[in-house]
Amino acid sequence: MFGSTQQDGTRTPMIAGNWKMNKTTVEAVTLSQQISFESDKAWEAVEVVICPPFTDLKSVFNVLAFDHSSIKLGAQDVYWEPDGAYTGAISVSMLKELTCEYCIVGHSERREYFGETDEMVNKKVKALLAQGIRPIMCCGESMEVRDAGETLDFIAEQVRLGWAGVNEEDVARSVIAYEPIWAIGTGRAATPEQAQEACAHIRSVVADLVGSDAAGKMRVLYGGSMNTGNAELFLPQSDVDGGLIGGASLDAKAFSALVEMALKAK
Ligand code: PGA
Repeated sequence: MFGSTQQDGTRTPMIAGNWKMNKTTVEAVTLSQQISFESDKAWEAVEVVICPPFTDLKSVFNVLAFDHSSIKLGAQDVYWEPDGAYTGAISVSMLKELTCEYCIVGHSERREYFGETDEMVNKKVKALLAQGIRPIMCCGESMEVRDAGETLDFIAEQVRLGWAGVNEEDVARSVIAYEPIWAIGTGRAATPEQAQEACAHIRSVVADLVGSDAAGKMRVLYGGSMNTGNAELFLPQSDVDGGLIGGASLDAKAFSALVEMALKAK
């Protein structure tokens, strides 16, 4: 199993596909088979994760297991309570049984459309870590916040609240995705410099929280209209450890090309 870092101490790059509310079970089987078909042994040097909707997890798991694939499974959300009367919710144990190693939390779409707060994000982060699933916690500012010159303070606060009470070891194996809201699904990505600045800032905030050793091991991804046309600019940035990919993850060839770029970049 991959740690956050490789034997030489460098962080293992990560390409994670966030399928969002796309793909029925039949479509998900096809897409995961296509991605698996594109993959080869070299991909093991990158941590490749796909995060389909809950209803697709089992069938995508079957595809990946059948192919003995190194591609990992992630969920897009979770509820923090262990079980009980929470209609529509999915628990950490349910994800664990389907071998999810990762779970996205605090995506800006969850925050905006489903009222997810930093406190809820923190509960989800802790519930996941308690059972060994690694959170991919999203943070990122609106255009309004950026225009006001408050980006770094805004994301620092999201990180501090989201990671509150999480120990050094758990932080080291977790992931943060910097996703400026204005760049998500808009085709208007941040500049590589903006991404690097935010990702470096996130790492320094985490270093203040739990120490620079854990902060140095934790992966920070960029997300927001990352695609095959711009990934080569983001991936070499020193604090950008990969990408959280929305739209481009729905195309097997594009997603695979992004993995290949991550392999070359580091
Ligand atoms: P996008 O989405 O790549 O379609 O912009 C990224 C995300 O929301 O995770």
